[in-house]
Amino acid sequence: MKVLLATKKPFVSKAVSEIQHIIETAGHQFDKIEKYTEKSQLLDAIKDADAVIVRSDIIDREVIDAAPQLKLIVRAGAGYDNVDLNAATERDICVMNTPGQNANAVAELVFGMLIYVLRNYFDGSTGTELKGKRLGLYAFGNVAKMVAKIARGFDMPVYAYSPIMTEDDLRKEGEYGVIPANSAEELFENSDIVSLHMPLLEDTRRCVNYHLLSRMPDNGILVNSARKEVINEDDLMRIMEERPNFRYITDIQPDKHDEFAAKFPKRYFATPKKTGAQTLEANINAGLAAAKQIVAFFKNGDETFRVNPK
Ligand code: 3PG
Repeated sequence: MKVLLATKKPFVSKAVSEIQHIIETAGHQFDKIEKYTEKSQLLDAIKDADAVIVRSDIIDREVIDAAPQLKLIVRAGAGYDNVDLNAATERDICVMNTPGQNANAVAELVFGMLIYVLRNYFDGSTGTELKGKRLGLYAFGNVAKMVAKIARGFDMPVYAYSPIMTEDDLRKEGEYGVIPANSAEELFENSDIVSLHMPLLEDTRRCVNYHLLSRMPDNGILVNSARKEVINEDDLMRIMEERPNFRYITDIQPDKHDEFAAKFPKRYFATPKKTGAQTLEANINAGLAAAKQIVAFFKNGDETFRVNPK
């Protein structure tokens, strides 16, 4: 089988060579296309691939159509909103992710960004601390769990709300010590800092809106390490205009990045490029998991971590 690694934002070379080793040791052929700039390059590279490993690379219907032999798409990471699941399912292509493999990296960045902003971009002026600030986690998957763990070290009370978990489910996750909120509204009301951890789905698109944001206390901070589309940008803009102390910190630049940056230079921070999963460890964890999942799929039909219906 031919396995293509297609990464616009490449993995560190140590991860790439280990992926190649796993694939070739299992008797498959390995090829890669990294840092490509044109979609046509991907369309060309994927044309004889049986499986592909991607990151946030867009795998839409056109890309799938260009790959007549494709049987498996592995998103080396958590969010698979970049893959057209309908197009894949119609072609009987299995789509998988590698859940949890880069969660710690993303969680650490949440605190890195928070400290950077709370210490006023290290400009030497007096900032504030995390200790004692109430942290609200909106959704409670792998990244949120790591954030909850780290927050305990900062002595922060941590609240959590998940639309797909009951308060009892959240309480059962005792090792993370979160206080369940019974609604998204309650979470926003009780949190000085709200951190977003939901996947991008039709249900979560623009779910963070004026109705919720307006419930946050004075000096509220919203942190986004999920996807830009989960926020209603116009509502966020409105809140930042109305509330002179509200801050927004994100690892994914919104569509209106330039406007946010110009209007709220001290209250808006966005990483120049999505950085959450950009660590040596996360690259190796996610990349190797993807390679092993591909080998197991072709060896014995293992579809653990399949995300699309059969
Ligand atoms: C994910 O969904 O796994 C993260 O957003 C990381 O995405 P990336 O691999 O494109 O950095």
